[in-house]
Amino acid sequence: MSDTDFLSLANPGVQKLTPYAPGKPLEELEREYGITEAVKLASNENPLGPSPAAVAAVKKAAAELHRYPDGNSFELKAALAKKHVLDSSQITLGNGSNDVLELIARTFVMPGDEVLFSAHAFAVYPIVTQAVNGVMNIAPATSADSEQPYGHDLDAMAARINEKTRVIFVANPNNPTGTWVQRDALRQFVEQVPSRVIVVVDEAYFEFVEEADYPDATEWLSEFPNLIVTRTFSKLYGIPGVRIGYGLSHPDIADLLNRVRQPFNVNSLAQAAAVAALNDDDYLQKSLDNNRQGLQQIVQACKANGWGYIPSVGNFICVKVGEHADAVYEGLLKEGVIVRPIAGYQLPEYVRVTIGTPEENARFIQALETVLKSLD
Ligand SMILES: Cc1ncc(COP(=O)(O)O)c(C=O)c1O
Repeated sequence: MSDTDFLSLANPGVQKLTPYAPGKPLEELEREYGITEAVKLASNENPLGPSPAAVAAVKKAAAELHRYPDGNSFELKAALAKKHVLDSSQITLGNGSNDVLELIARTFVMPGDEVLFSAHAFAVYPIVTQAVNGVMNIAPATSADSEQPYGHDLDAMAARINEKTRVIFVANPNNPTGTWVQRDALRQFVEQVPSRVIVVVDEAYFEFVEEADYPDATEWLSEFPNLIVTRTFSKLYGIPGVRIGYGLSHPDIADLLNRVRQPFNVNSLAQAAAVAALNDDDYLQKSLDNNRQGLQQIVQACKANGWGYIPSVGNFICVKVGEHADAVYEGLLKEGVIVRPIAGYQLPEYVRVTIGTPEENARFIQALETVLKSLD
């Protein structure tokens, strides 16, 4: 082994980083516990499988794997520009929307600059901030007994904006809490942000939300040149495996992000899959219906069993399992159900479960009943 202290050689921000902890892969659980037919409800994936149109497009695109992808993703940008009624020059594509979040931090955050986000917000915000030696300014969340517990408190966030703030991340809805902010509140917040501060509205779960007051921040892009809205194909569109997401912004911002991104950050299979998934209306509708019903199924089970939960508008929900959440997580694994422990999000009494098919949800509910009884 080497005697060199590589930790001390690393960029100081990287030294402090905690790596992102992904959901446990199904194969790993089956290997470790010798179980078959386990279900994974841990990564907010689409339980219906990938869009069939996307699969067909990937197969076709595979014949051209010996070529580099189109570095400017002409066709996908054209399709997205049409969908959002924007110009292609306003689109930044990423290897997942995480890639776009990282490009934003690398482009705008210098060492010592502050990046503002809420407590319990998506885990990638602290990672991309610290990796560039930015300073995290974490606003307290809404209280545990509010209508939207542990959600973004936009007033608290606005109060923390200062001359060092360079970027603000607002997840709407947020992961893992599933909480969301209303149109008027978000708009007023964006209006208060000085134009020298980049405000990112992360809409990874946009398509799932059916509340009347839920805003589409892309509508405000022409008014706020410092606004970036991010979306992804990983959730409703069902293709996280190929990694594709995007940012929409003023063209000047897109131009800067484009300078930083790797030349071929979006591969050819992802581009083809995304173009196809975008218009797979039948699949998208089925996925939405499944999610609506599944969310109800789990909420009803929570109510029937007296389990607490955080009301969610996404394709996942946090269920309160008490202080022994670690043991519950392990117990669920033994029952063949993978969920996500979220102590790392300062929610140690909860597990986050992704909405599955009706059968998968029933499996989770049954397994949780069994595990909680065994821990009584
Ligand atoms: C709030 C939020 N933003 C962004 C992402 C990134 O997704 P992807 O990189 O797969 O597009 C996720 C994924 O879980 C998320 O929950």
